[in-house]
Order: sequence, then structure tokens, then C-alpha cells
Amino acid sequence: MSNPIAPHGATRLNPLFVEDADERGWLAEEAESLPSIAVASAAASNAVMLGGGYFTPLAGFMDKADALSVGRSMQTADGLFWPTPVLNLVHDAGAVAAGARIALRDPNVDGAPVLAIQEVTAVEAFSATEFDGLTAQVYGTTDPAHPGVADFQAQGTVVLSGPVQVLNFSYFETEFPETFRTAVAIRQEIAERGWHRVVAFQTRNPMHRAHEELCRMAMERLEADGVVIHMLLGKLKPGDIPAPVRDATIRKMVDLYFPPNSAMITGYGFDMLYAGPREAVLHAIFRQNMGASHFIVGRDHAGVGDYYEPFEAQEVFDDIPADALQIELFKADHTAWSKKLNKVVMMREAPGHAMEDFVLLSGTAVREMLGSGIAPPPEFSRPEVAQILIDHYRGRE
Ligand code: ADX
Repeated sequence: MSNPIAPHGATRLNPLFVEDADERGWLAEEAESLPSIAVASAAASNAVMLGGGYFTPLAGFMDKADALSVGRSMQTADGLFWPTPVLNLVHDAGAVAAGARIALRDPNVDGAPVLAIQEVTAVEAFSATEFDGLTAQVYGTTDPAHPGVADFQAQGTVVLSGPVQVLNFSYFETEFPETFRTAVAIRQEIAERGWHRVVAFQTRNPMHRAHEELCRMAMERLEADGVVIHMLLGKLKPGDIPAPVRDATIRKMVDLYFPPNSAMITGYGFDMLYAGPREAVLHAIFRQNMGASHFIVGRDHAGVGDYYEPFEAQEVFDDIPADALQIELFKADHTAWSKKLNKVVMMREAPGHAMEDFVLLSGTAVREMLGSGIAPPPEFSRPEVAQILIDHYRGRE
């Protein structure tokens, strides 16, 4: 029997959530007397990910040297492989100086309760050139029309680095009690199920036929014990489908079309970066930390608009050191329904096909259909999934 996959850069997970309820209580009390800052949503979601062990082995927010090093070479100043900066950025640190203990207030919960306590080890600022350079390295562009760039650049350029103690999981625990899971909890559940070969599926969309079949193909070809569908529950760009609706479509699909006990439906509290290749690498780290042995990366993974080439998020893995990650990729080609074969296929595995032999619909076309109450063809969406989406669009009228 194989051992579970090791966490990234560590032998044990490093969840920064304070497990002991008494200690959490004392810290919450202490926090009320500490200087506090309202953090950006991105920093809050970083704290949630640190809390849940997904960012193992990090001990807190990166400093400027780590962030610049990660941007340049996908490793921290100490040589830990890491693809994106994990920052607490503010516009103005006010009186907060190195050595301070501060309370981080949650911008996503009414009344801005304390989410975490941070020990500030340094207060530093990026120059405009450094910040633009870092943006370009991480997102591949500095175009303010890119939603991830716009969000990153709105956070401020002052870096508060240092270790954190996380006191709760923000709105994720309360709004998604069935779905939100820490890396610790997923690892544990995988072990309890006795799964060894485990495929993880990242998603920020409702799952249509292509997504469903991708999971099935990966499970069959890898002879996996199961798939962990792991949906993003944090902030998305305007127009994306809200998490509760996506969650409902995924639950319906698994219920009706997956064999019992073959899929775990889970989610994580992180704001989408839309950073394409760099985010795909970060995604692989999350999934290694939660105990998956394999990770699906398909077409335009974590992409947006035309900022990335369709398979750039797969190619990036060819350029990283061989020992950087232990999780293995399942690289999927563009997947769609073949009218000739009457099933969903990877296009490169469908010889003798022309484009018109596939059922291909753009995201915009699908949104327009659903918005007018029309279900996409069953080759594209399961009717039960389409119905949930139609109801969602109707509810917004
Ligand atoms: S993502 O931003 O989370 O990557 P999405 O939820 O749409 O977006 O995709 C989830 C995963 O499925 C990603 O690995 C993506 O590359 C893959 N994927 C989505 N649609 C297809 C498709 N038609 N063909 C191949 N891979 C796809």
C-alpha cells in the first residue's frame, strides 16, 4: 500500500488555524486590544488558505524579497518552490511598524470581525517599477482590464509580512458548511475512504459535460480510487456564476451521473487570480497539500479572455525543476462532444474530425441561452444542470 503524498516542501501539513478552542478564545480577546487593519479580500483569502494548510509550508505572509524572488524565479529567497506571491498588501501601514502584533479584520463579513493575528516582521513598499514587474511576471500582463491584475493593483503597494495565527475561516464555514474544507480535512477524508490514487479537479464554473467527462477520463486512465472535485468558493469576476449555484449544479451532476462513493464534492476559500499558468502551479500545490496524487489541467486552466495560450497552463509544468512537486498532472486536451462518435472525446483523440463535427459553444453563447431560458443541447449540458442555471438566471431578472 502506498504512503500518502507528502505535503509541499514539508513532511507534515502546516495549518495556521489555531486548533485549540481555549487558545483561540484568548487570542480573540487579545485581538480586541491590538491595533487592527482592514485587509484586502485577497489577503483575507490568503489567511484562510494559510489557516487550512493549503499554503504549507508557508508560516505567514511573504516579505518583499520573497515576493520579488517568487515573481522572478518561482522560488522564495530561501529556495522554496512557489509560483505566486502570498501577500498582505495595504495602501498605508499607518502606525504599524516591524515588531507589532496586529489584528487582521475581515472585509467579507459584516462588522469586520478579526480573522487572524499577524506578527509584523517587516513593513516595506514596492516601487512602481517593482510592482509592475511583479504583476507582469505573475499575470503575464499589466493590462488593467485583466481582472486579476486590476484586483492585485488595487490592493496597495505596502507589504506587511510575518507569521499569522488564524482564528476562523471567514464566511466560507458559515455559507458553505457542506462544501468548504481545509486541506487537513480533505487529507483525512481521503485516508478514511482508503483512497490512494486520487485525482483532483479544480473548477470555478458549473460543470458541463466536458468537465464531467474529463473527471471520468482521468479516473479511468489513472485507475484512480476517486476524484476530489475542488471548487473555488472565493471571489470571482463579475458575470461568473456564484458559488452556491455552481455547488448545486455539481451536486446534482455527481448525484445523477457518478457511481456512489467515487467523487468527493469540496471547496476552498480563495479569491480567483485568473493568473493562468502561475495559478495552475499554485493549484497543483493546493492539491498536493490536500493529499491528491494527480491533478487535472485542461484547456485554458485558470485563464481569462485571450491573455494565455490554450495550453500555457500545462506547458509551464515542463519548465519547472523535476523535483519541485510530487503531485502528477493529468494533462487534458480540449474536450467536446463528437457528433460522429456520439460521446465526449479529447479532440486530439478524434481523428478525421473537422471543427463542425464537435458541439462547441462559447461561454457567451451558453450564458445567452441560459439567460433566455433555453437549455444548451444535452451534448453540452446535462438537462438537470441546465435547469439549475436557467433558474439562477431567471431569479436575477
Ligand atoms: S478554471 O479557471 O477553474 O480552470 P473551469 O472551471 O472552467 O475554469 O475549468 C476547470 C478545469 O477544466 C481546468 O483544468 C480547465 O482547463 C478544464 N477544462 C474546462 N473546459 C474544458 C474543455 N472543454 N476541454 C478541456 N479542458 C477543459
